[in-house]
Amino acid sequence: MGEKHAVKNAAFRLYGRQKTRALNDRQCELMEQLLPNLDISLSDLSKKTGPVLEIGFGFGEHLAHMAEKNPGTFYVGFEPFTNGVASLLQHIDDKELRNINLHQGDVRHFFPEMPDQLFSAIYLLYPDPWPKKRHFKRRFIQKETLATIHRLLAPKGIFYIASDHDTYQTWIEEHIEAIEAAKTFEWTNKTTKDAAWDGWIRTRYEEKAFREGRTPRYYVLTKK
Ligand SMILES: C[S@@+](CC[C@H](N)C(=O)[O-])C[C@H]1O[C@@H](n2cnc3c(N)ncnc32)[C@H](O)[C@@H]1O
Repeated sequence: MGEKHAVKNAAFRLYGRQKTRALNDRQCELMEQLLPNLDISLSDLSKKTGPVLEIGFGFGEHLAHMAEKNPGTFYVGFEPFTNGVASLLQHIDDKELRNINLHQGDVRHFFPEMPDQLFSAIYLLYPDPWPKKRHFKRRFIQKETLATIHRLLAPKGIFYIASDHDTYQTWIEEHIEAIEAAKTFEWTNKTTKDAAWDGWIRTRYEEKAFREGRTPRYYVLTKK
């Protein structure tokens, strides 16, 4: 995916960490040599059956785990954070995964180019909570992004969300109630305290949430 797209969609400003630590030699090599071969091509992706998207994969442990468990499914992930991208590349290299593509960057830049009904499932695990009221507009979950997620999912496609932050949980639930009322999605798990989906493993961010005493909630929405 090329630079021109980022320029074209410069209206989205990305907040948050981009890089926290220097990469080691192996990570530098993977960034230079493996990443260009695994960059997402929308035309190739459109030929796959029911690919799965993870938005903001962090250090990539969940995406790598799913790809390893389901070799017949194709996975794609977006993440702007350099250390996270390098970490996922290490998982891909160590496990010799052949069914993942990834892109370093803000997924929203690419939404306009993604065809309708592309994905069978989309994961959004622990989006940045932006707890201050004046930053709520930075939150990933917004009416507009939910409309895009709906457009990108195949019929009966599933949107999975996890969040550990109480005011973001309330925000998510208010948005879900609005989309349920609009009959675009069905909220298929009302017991939000259990990760009610197969293949769940704790992400690094979730481990931190438990250590710090926060209680995650998990949301499963099925496209109507
Ligand atoms: C709180 S972290 C959670 C990471 C991971 N999902 C986990 O559970 O460990 C949120 C991640 O979303 C990424 N992110 C934020 N906005 C994004 C966007 N617009 N597109 C792609 N990734 C994004 C951030 O860089 C960050 O790594």
